[in-house]
Amino acid sequence: MIIVIGSQKGGCGKSTTTVSVCAALASQGKDVVLVDADRQTTAANWAADRDQDGTPHPVHCVQKYDNIRSTLIDLDKRYEFVVVDAAGRDSRELRTGITAAHMLIVPFRPSQPDLDTLPRMQEIITQAQDLNPNLQVYGLLTMNPTNPSVHEEAEAREYFQEFPIIQPLKTMIYDRKVYRDSMSVGKGVTEMNNPKAKTEIENLLREIL
Ligand SMILES: Nc1ncnc2c1ncn2[C@@H]1O[C@H](COP(=O)(O)OP(=O)(O)OP(=O)(O)O)[C@@H](O)[C@H]1O
Ligand SMILES: [Mg+2]
Repeated sequence: MIIVIGSQKGGCGKSTTTVSVCAALASQGKDVVLVDADRQTTAANWAADRDQDGTPHPVHCVQKYDNIRSTLIDLDKRYEFVVVDAAGRDSRELRTGITAAHMLIVPFRPSQPDLDTLPRMQEIITQAQDLNPNLQVYGLLTMNPTNPSVHEEAEAREYFQEFPIIQPLKTMIYDRKVYRDSMSVGKGVTEMNNPKAKTEIENLLREIL
């Protein structure tokens, strides 16, 4: 199964979500490959750190840029899960990746600049679905404030209703320091000592798979 985590928006949590999903799948004994399709190499750096620390649940990493379609199709024959960190912007990696993917997860923060990118995302997805009509598309709220008096989530969910092509997930990722910490030590949050973050990623996998 090919899962692309992508958005036109920079800094919305694509790489952070990708690596935690990969680590969680690997620790469940799944055969998973991470495709870093962003020249910033955030995900590949994470995979290298993970490798160096000799984890019991390795995540293989492939770096591929420009047209990634045929690479994804090939990897899909060899691995149970192919999880792609696609470059932000309206990138060639995102566009070619979602012509091959089974699933696109669009992370977005509950903030207006992130939500403002949804009309363009909808266009990109519509074009991909002309070629790949079975592409499932989910919206994932990330970096949600933990402060209960902030109601950005409800506003974001309401705005989302204007884009029925993207199905909002019930699972949300909150803004937690452990996501940043895990990134720098080659781990997923499910492998850190934070039950709340662990549950978020486990719920995400349960909801999408
Ligand atoms: N749930 C979270 N809680 C706290 N910090 C987070 C969370 N998700 C991501 N971050 C932090 O926010 C920043 C952006 O996240 P990340 O690099 O995953 O986004 P991105 O979409 O991959 O960005 P880019 O477009 O640059 O590739 C990073 O510093 C990361 O550590
Ligand atoms: Mg990134």
